[in-house]
Amino acid sequence: MIAGHDWSRTALGARARWPVGAATMVAMILESRQPMFLLWGPERTLVYNDAYVPLLGAKHPSALGRPFLEVWEEAVDSLKPLVDRVFEGHSNYMDHIHLMLDRGEGLREAHFSFSHSPVRDTDGRVGGLLCVCTETTAGVLAERSRRVVEERMREIQSELAHMSRFTALGEMASALAHELNQPLAAISNYLTGCRELLEDPGERDDALVRDAIGEAAAQALRAGEIIRSLRAFVSRAEARRQPVPLETLVSETLALALLGSSHVEVRVNVRIGSELRVLVDRIQIQQVVLNIVRNAVEAMQGRPVRTLEIVASASPHDGMVDVAISDTGGGIHPAVAAKLFQPFQTTKPNGMGVGLSICRTIVEAHGGRIAAETRADEGTTFRLSLPAAGEEGERDAA
Ligand SMILES: Nc1ncnc2c1ncn2[C@@H]1O[C@H](COP(=O)(O)OP(=O)(O)OP(=O)(O)O)[C@@H](O)[C@H]1O
Ligand SMILES: [Mg+2]
Repeated sequence: MIAGHDWSRTALGARARWPVGAATMVAMILESRQPMFLLWGPERTLVYNDAYVPLLGAKHPSALGRPFLEVWEEAVDSLKPLVDRVFEGHSNYMDHIHLMLDRGEGLREAHFSFSHSPVRDTDGRVGGLLCVCTETTAGVLAERSRRVVEERMREIQSELAHMSRFTALGEMASALAHELNQPLAAISNYLTGCRELLEDPGERDDALVRDAIGEAAAQALRAGEIIRSLRAFVSRAEARRQPVPLETLVSETLALALLGSSHVEVRVNVRIGSELRVLVDRIQIQQVVLNIVRNAVEAMQGRPVRTLEIVASASPHDGMVDVAISDTGGGIHPAVAAKLFQPFQTTKPNGMGVGLSICRTIVEAHGGRIAAETRADEGTTFRLSLPAAGEEGERDAA
């Protein structure tokens, strides 16, 4: 096609009298399978090789011998300054350039990596531009959709982690409600009976009233036992406790907790010695960290400084590991501060207010403690202690 083209009206002139620099470059690019083209002269006359044809789409074959910036007129604003600079003698390399190109299917996003070199004429002046390029559009788009899918998956995962505790709680609550129904109904019956006995002085039988009140008290104790079994439900997991490196547990949980909240950019500082190991039910303690970190991220939304800090150290006295999780949020609202760890305390429109009560149940079932310190408008620190994994724990795990 190059041989058959009439070049006499371009800056290159008739094919037989092409400048040496141009002729050499064209001979070289025609031998290459790498997409390449040469631009020549003030019109930036385009000469390209076969490998460049797919990049032109419907613009081939009419692009051959035409001014480059007319061929790619839809991207002239991006391309002209790049091309002009090379004609001033500068070489240029770009790993990714994003252009909107119309290659016969309307404007579409396209990405390229390329290298531009000035090509000098015999007199030493820059006569042309050699471009070696690679189209990366498919890779960039695939990477982008992979990221979107991954992000969505993490959101779902994180939602699930959030939901799973509701499900566990829901199951626990309905089992409890069912169990509690009996003693509560009995208490109500006994007390109604007592009132009827007391209202009718004629029939009054103190012994009967005393018995009925005794029964009601016994049923109330039974109800208390059932509620206490909530704790047993959690501590049933005792058998699943294993020595776990705290750093790993925390970093895994952070990945889950933070990726679901990508809209809030948070700086994270974790300082946990790699030697620190805790004897815990991994899933439960991850749930605790997840709840606290989620609260922290939520508290920092819209704050100018968003730093989450997690620091841990072995407590010197009691065989526990102390963990402090601090945020730079607005502090705990006084309305919930006093009953922070009680269920259904929430300041959030969609909050259930159960996160922290579950945290406390889990931590205390592990023999640990949880507390919060808050500084209004500065942030909040949650401190928990967890049993350190001593020799015993390690032997068990082995
Ligand atoms: N780091 C924190 N900074 C400020 N306030 C907090 C923080 N952590 C908890 N709170 C307050 O404590 C309340 C209770 O938290 P909790 O996690 O128990 O429930 P929630 O986050 O409201 O709802 P959910 O059950 O969905 O977790 C929150 O609504 C919030 O007002
Ligand atoms: Mg919460």
